[in-house]
Formats: sequence, C-alpha cells, structure tokens
Amino acid sequence: GMTMLATVALASTSAMALTVGFSQIGSESGWRAAETTLTRQQAEQRGIDLKFADAQQKQENQIKALRSFIAQGVDAILLAPVVATGWDAVLKEAKEAEIPVILLDRMVDSDKDLYLTAVGSDLVHEGSVAGDWLVKEVNGKPCNVVELQGTTGSSPAIDRKKGFEQALAGHDNLKIIRSQTGDFTRTKGKEVMESFLKAEDGGKNICALYAHNDDMAVGAIQAIKEAGLKPGTDILVVSIDAVPDIFLAMAAGEANATVELTPNMAGPAFDALEAFRKDGTMPPKFIQTESKLYTKADDPQKVYEEKKDLGY
Ligand code: AHR
Repeated sequence: GMTMLATVALASTSAMALTVGFSQIGSESGWRAAETTLTRQQAEQRGIDLKFADAQQKQENQIKALRSFIAQGVDAILLAPVVATGWDAVLKEAKEAEIPVILLDRMVDSDKDLYLTAVGSDLVHEGSVAGDWLVKEVNGKPCNVVELQGTTGSSPAIDRKKGFEQALAGHDNLKIIRSQTGDFTRTKGKEVMESFLKAEDGGKNICALYAHNDDMAVGAIQAIKEAGLKPGTDILVVSIDAVPDIFLAMAAGEANATVELTPNMAGPAFDALEAFRKDGTMPPKFIQTESKLYTKADDPQKVYEEKKDLGY
C-alpha cells in the first residue's frame, strides 16, 4: 500500500513540477539582486525547478541562454530583457517550440503574441510620479535638473525619461540641463554626477537630481557630499525603486523621494503560468504592479527596517 501511494505521489509531482528557465540581466542594482532572490524563493515555494542564467548585462548572453533553454525543452521561460529591441528571432524560436515566455520588469518592442504576458510597472507613470513630486516640491522656483538615465536602450530608461519630461512640461521654472546614462549602477552614477558637478560650477548651478534608479542616486549622493554640498538640501534627490539604502539616505536627510518598484515580479508571473498550464487560462498581456511614492513623511527609518531583510 505505502509503495503504491508513494509511487502515485511521485508520479503526480513529477507530472506537475515545472522546469522554468530564467534569463536575468545581471546584478547591476540592489533592486535587481532582490528580484533574483525573490524569483528563486517563489520557485522553491512552488516546487518549480528554476534554471538561472546571469547575462552580465549582455543581450547576446540572454539570447544564448534562451536558445539553450529551448534546446533543453524547459516548460517556460522568464526573461528580464536588458534592452527593448532585437528579440524577434529568439522569441519566434520559443514560440515555435511552444515554450511560453514571460517578460519580467522590462518590456520589448516585439509583437505581443511572441510572449505570454509581461509583469511590470507602468514605467512612464513612474517617471511622471517622480516629476510631479519635484514640480510640487520646488513650487514655482527656478530649478536646474540633472538626470541620470538607466541603461541605454532599456525600456525603463526610455520610459522613465519620457514620464518625467511629461510631468515637467509646462513648468518652465524647471529645466533639465544635463542628462546622461549611469547604467543603473552606483559606480557610474557617482562618476557621471562628478562630471555634472564639475561642469555646473561645482554643483552650485544644480537644484535637483533625477536618477532612474536608487543605486545611481546613492552613488551621486556620495559625489555631492565629496563636492562639499548637501544632498537632499542643496541638491534635491528623487529616484526610483525604493531599495532599503535609499531609505537610509532619506532618514539622514540626503535623499528626498523615491517611487517603489516591487522586486516580486515572479509571484504574479508564476501565478499566470500555473493557471495557463492548468486549464489554458490566458493571462492579460500586461500584469501591472504598483508604483508608490515615498518621501521623508513616510518614516524612512521604519521603512528601511521593514525592507532590509526582504531579499535586497
Ligand atoms: O528594470 C528595472 C530596473 O532595472 C530597476 O529600476 C533598476 O534598478 C534595475 O537595474
């Protein structure tokens, strides 16, 4: 009897257990590291066998990883696409192999029927939330803004720039005087901010920094301090992600606002995948996560404590 039961149980788990390939961009930011951790956790909780491939920021590595997942015959693929273009061929290969692809956090320019669904935030909206905050904060005063863009060609860099510009449109007191990529990293955020400060009278000509992610903001805050200015006061700092470290900076008065991006994209992605596998339920093409604004009014020290053990 026991043997029989055990065999049945085993057979049913192996029939159910999914193998999912995950092509991750790399580990450029604290947010990205958390997304990786939470994806692994979600897979483990659901008994999903996750095959993880780190692309080290290179699209060609992601394309290779996808081809290898297809060759292995995985049940599904999660893809966090480093840039928006250049995915058509490999997505067609996955489709021909009948392997559903789910996009995580970044979008692609390809035809929508080349993937099952995309989980992410409204990236244009995030930029406009950051911009609206700054418009209110400066309240009509003249303000020169410098911008640290994310990875060139990535959907968050394109859309966060667009949303921010939309929010500033019609508010002629605010001007974006410099805008350059910091590749979503602390190191480049610091480097590029140093060059902005040098070019703008040691920073005296800069009123605010908008960074497409918190990590670049954290790097830039360091540069501002080294230039002898006070981040958060002399230069306002607004960014995106809501990673623990930006709340520490906010608690110290060195950062002003951030827009939250959840690192748990895998939860909704696996929910959609499991429903699809069970009875063919088609998910919507876009599963949208929230974009919440945090400022110093939100008790940053407390938020830091709450967040710091959540996979970042
Ligand atoms: O695609 C999401 C962005 O990628 C995050 O905002 C950033 O931190 C990461 O590198």
